Amino acid sequence: MSDGPTRAAQGTKGTTVVEAPATASHAVRLPPGPRLPKLVQGIGYAVSRTWTYQQIARRHGDVFRMNLPVFGRTVIVANPQLARQLFMANTEDVGNIQPNLSRVLGKGSVFALDGADHRLRRKLLTPPFHGKSIKNYENIFEEETLRESANWPEGRAFSTLEPMMRITLNAILRAVFGADGEQLDELRRIIPPWVTLGSRLGVLPKPTRTFGRYSPWGRLAEYRRQYDDVIGRLIDDVKADPNFDSRDDVLALLLRSTYEDGSEMSRQDIGDELLTLLAAGHETTASTLGWAFERITRHPAVLSTLVEEAATDDNEYRQATILEVQRARTVIDFAGRHVHAPTFELGEWVIPRGYSIVVAISQLHDRADDFPAPERFDPQRYVGSRPPTFAFVPFGGGTRRCVGAAFANVEMDVVLRTVLRHFVIDTTTAPDEKIHSRGVAFTPKDGGRIIVHRRETPLAEETT
Ligand code: HEM
Repeated sequence: MSDGPTRAAQGTKGTTVVEAPATASHAVRLPPGPRLPKLVQGIGYAVSRTWTYQQIARRHGDVFRMNLPVFGRTVIVANPQLARQLFMANTEDVGNIQPNLSRVLGKGSVFALDGADHRLRRKLLTPPFHGKSIKNYENIFEEETLRESANWPEGRAFSTLEPMMRITLNAILRAVFGADGEQLDELRRIIPPWVTLGSRLGVLPKPTRTFGRYSPWGRLAEYRRQYDDVIGRLIDDVKADPNFDSRDDVLALLLRSTYEDGSEMSRQDIGDELLTLLAAGHETTASTLGWAFERITRHPAVLSTLVEEAATDDNEYRQATILEVQRARTVIDFAGRHVHAPTFELGEWVIPRGYSIVVAISQLHDRADDFPAPERFDPQRYVGSRPPTFAFVPFGGGTRRCVGAAFANVEMDVVLRTVLRHFVIDTTTAPDEKIHSRGVAFTPKDGGRIIVHRRETPLAEETT
């Protein structure tokens, strides 16, 4: 690949566009970008990518290029039509962004796969995450919420993020891993510190060696060894279960299914994939729930409508609130791809092989064209209507769209419903919590603090 500048042309907004020779029939044509050194761009990106994007977008518009430390030469897209084009592209032409979390999760992770391998894996993963299968997990989500909230303090502020992390972790370990008893306890012990460490290291350049067992990468390797040991025993137990054929956890569904050629997923791939589902699904869902509490306690009218609805079997307003939380406080702010084709056409631009292309999800969610008065938190936007498909992409899009989107949505719905039914939640006039980066996900800085009082009788009987 050659991306060295050969000719300067005038781009949109009067900025300079760099053109480079193409390796195929299309001449490379890159969007404009800042002329700052890579280090300065990298520091801006690391300190606050939202602020950095805003500054660059102000000058260059909703598609621009940057040079970043981990992802290299990158095109940033905050335009729904271009996001659509990227998401719908052939996966042979654009694969997953490089590097990605498969560095930590293993090469059997769906994050590591592109093209035909990715398509085949998604065929195996999709049925267990289909809406019908997820219905079976509703009682798990409810039980875990009741268990976790049993000892919540009354009349005293506490952070919801950690309780939400435990609920979403336990829900995935039970619904996805099918774990219980000793193995459930072991996984509960290993996974939280491992995920915290992994999500911090996942966005850093990976060293070629681990620097000993007490170094961060050494500790990561040790967690992995312990995890493989538990998963090996779990797979043996699930396979030996006399009720194996009727089990509905994702692990059993994966063990029962085969690829198109009749072959099964290897144990190593199953271990990597379960870990992927956990890493991708645990912190993201908990962070969104933490934001949900942060938002609704600052919007009394929204909270009282939610409370009224929680006494019924309806969930239209709760669903609208979840969508608005995901828009206004997006926890994963980018979906990235890597150009494998000699060139990839993106609107008027032609991006060469080796470039990263990143959809800036938070910036899309902040577009006044698609979300009038975007700074306003207003679930009413989605009562009776759906958000615009490619302007609203909290779960990414196209062939790599989040496989756990329905799982996360049902889980968030059941957790919120259960809390609303069992507790009175106080509203607050405290300032909005700041946005904090935990490495991969963005969380409320103070953890979504709330004050609750237990209801003498729940608003409604449990429905699951
Ligand atoms: C609110 C919660 C969640 C959010 C915001 C979220 C967000 C995302 C995003 C933005 C992507 C990238 C999509 C793309 O590249 O186009 C993704 C991928 C993925 N998510 Fe989620 N996710 C959530 C919950 C879950 C859950 C619960 C699971 C599983 C239990 C899960 C499993 C995955 C997997 C396996 C991928 C990779 C898909 C692929 O590369 O084909 N996620 N998610």
